[in-house]
Amino acid sequence: MAQSTGYNKIGAAVFISGRGSNLKSLIKFSKTKKSPISIEFIVSNNFKAKGLNYSRIYKIKKKVLNFKEKNLSESKLLYVLKQNNIRIICLAGFMKILSKNFIKKFNGKILNIHPSLLPKYKGLNTHKRALLNKEKYSGCTVHFVNSRLDSGKIILQKRVRISKSETETSLAKKILVQEHKIYPKAILKVFNL
Ligand code: GAR
Repeated sequence: MAQSTGYNKIGAAVFISGRGSNLKSLIKFSKTKKSPISIEFIVSNNFKAKGLNYSRIYKIKKKVLNFKEKNLSESKLLYVLKQNNIRIICLAGFMKILSKNFIKKFNGKILNIHPSLLPKYKGLNTHKRALLNKEKYSGCTVHFVNSRLDSGKIILQKRVRISKSETETSLAKKILVQEHKIYPKAILKVFNL
């Protein structure tokens, strides 16, 4: 069983590359009584990620690594995560692929959120492809991370309807609203809460 932090919650790290709206929603959730996790670390591969501002706002430690030398960045990261007793990683708009070795060595759960109804539209440009294929629905998925891209066991999905006048931007926005809701729900589910 995962050890708890000083707050009696499981230490979590959120990995981001950009805006960090899912990070913000996870931070808010983590501060509620029902949350089993406490976010102790924000990790990014991008020094300019807007979401890193939440580190200052919410006084959460951060670690930025460029991932240019992936092995080196990952081993530094594994060290930091261990030092801080991090037992769950939530990828939230993190645009780097973690190596098999990292996934194997990290002693805990790794979750990701993806803006499509997996197994459909793995990878990038999900909204564009869903629209091009004239899908009636799209959505978002929270899943466990394994060594294959966007292919780990699905924890939770939410479907949204694609309207006739839908654009990539409107669809992304619509799905993001649901992402902010299902990520916390998926975490509760993972801990059987
Ligand atoms: C979210 O839509 C997330 O699902 C997506 O990036 C966005 C990040 O937004 N993730 C991926 O595409 C991963 N392959 P945010 O930084 O505002 O949370």
